[in-house]
Amino acid sequence: MGPGDLEDIVHNLGIRHNPAVIIGPGDDAAVYEIGGLRLIKTVDLITPVVNDPFTYGAISVCNSLSDVYAMGGRPFAALAIVGFSNCDYETEVLKEILKGALSILDIAGVSLVGGHCIDDRELKFGLSVTGVLSTNKILTVSGARAGDVLIITKPIGLGIITTALKGGKIADDDIAHAVKWMLTLNDEASVRALNSGASACTDVTGFGLLGHGYNMVKDSGLDLVINYPSVPVIERVFELIDMGMVAAGAYNNLSYIKDKTDFSDSISNEQKLVLTDPQTSGGLLIALSEESLCHFNGMFYAPIGRFQKGKGRIIVTGSNYH
Ligand code: CO
Ligand code: CO
Ligand code: CO
Repeated sequence: MGPGDLEDIVHNLGIRHNPAVIIGPGDDAAVYEIGGLRLIKTVDLITPVVNDPFTYGAISVCNSLSDVYAMGGRPFAALAIVGFSNCDYETEVLKEILKGALSILDIAGVSLVGGHCIDDRELKFGLSVTGVLSTNKILTVSGARAGDVLIITKPIGLGIITTALKGGKIADDDIAHAVKWMLTLNDEASVRALNSGASACTDVTGFGLLGHGYNMVKDSGLDLVINYPSVPVIERVFELIDMGMVAAGAYNNLSYIKDKTDFSDSISNEQKLVLTDPQTSGGLLIALSEESLCHFNGMFYAPIGRFQKGKGRIIVTGSNYH
């Protein structure tokens, strides 16, 4: 499935219109209005991306909270969703995952209020999160304006690093840099996006930079031009691609996006796979006016592209790196 396919299926089921649903399927999270309060609802769960259970639990929480931040919201309550086999793992493992989860929930000011566990041979952990909008503004995935700049708030290539870890090509110690990024909450980026008057925002997750970038312009009168040399890529990624360490999801994402994208001739296949690499707990993609970039001074961010009048396509420009 490509970006939005699940939403298309849900749409085609003909969900009854309810005016309380301010944002339904198709954005990072839903927005539901009740008693004058606008609630944000989202769910996400992942299989292990690192070997250490505590760190896995912590990363999964950052990943699950991200969709609330991508809407400009503040999460406050969460329910755990666990797939766990007592045959394959000691309960000690589950305890460590939950300890890791709580370490991040504490930082984020979110209460764990319950959860559910099913017997599952493949370990899974995630959260259903409820938040509220911090302001009157909703940071929707669409809404970018011609002339806006696109920034990203974390480097990409995290999927290649975790694939290499699973493939035994790198050790736990070699992924500290990637883990640091996956454990970085998108809370600060979200607040700055709101303060900057951002016109659109989404987070980079399973569909990679191009898939989520495409969601910002599809069905719009805009193209998104991404300047490849400006895209921050995590260290050692090209070395690992050369060893074949590419997640299957990157190939799926590339085959979905390639007829919606115009790649400059200088963009190599390896670079395309970096641009479609699925991210766990990736950064925010934020559309804003160039004059508002100063709101991001003092935190990591990179301007990587620009929106222009067009037909809902992605254009990737580049040079002959790698
Ligand atoms: Co999202
Ligand atoms: Co999500
Ligand atoms: Co958003």
